Amino acid sequence: MLMRKATKNVRLGGLNVPVDTQLYLALTAVYHETKIWGIDANEFNPMRFTAVQKQLDAFVPFGLGARICVGQNLAMVEAKIVLAMIVRRYSFSVSPSYAHAPFQCITLQPQHGAHILFKNIAS
Ligand code: HEM
Repeated sequence: MLMRKATKNVRLGGLNVPVDTQLYLALTAVYHETKIWGIDANEFNPMRFTAVQKQLDAFVPFGLGARICVGQNLAMVEAKIVLAMIVRRYSFSVSPSYAHAPFQCITLQPQHGAHILFKNIAS
């Protein structure tokens, strides 16, 4: 979730938000909104991001606007470098022992770990 606190009385859409109100933006709810993501919104489907997105601001893993994550580019480059280092040496697949049980603890995490089978392809 993202959190914000109103520094003055504001009108937000049809809502009057008094000063000092804390607002919690539940991103999980936004990410499951079928009006935005389609009827398969609850399915794990990374390929949905290959299509042109009508509402780019509906997916905000790094926040948006003035307080957007300053480490966004570093994090993305780091992830790509690590992935490139792995795929040079290994092929991998999800282990049959993996139990799909995502849970939220600040970030979304695999409750019983991410069981992955690696196969060395370097030699
Ligand atoms: C996958 C990795 C990361 C994710 C998902 C992430 C996510 C976020 C999000 C959602 C915010 C906005 C919070 C808000 O608007 O209330 C944020 C802010 C911030 N992030 Fe990240 N972040 C990541 C990596 C990093 C890294 C690597 C750094 C530093 C090297 C970093 C530094 C910051 C800082 C300093 C802010 C506060 C910016 C401000 O308020 O002006 N983050 N991050």
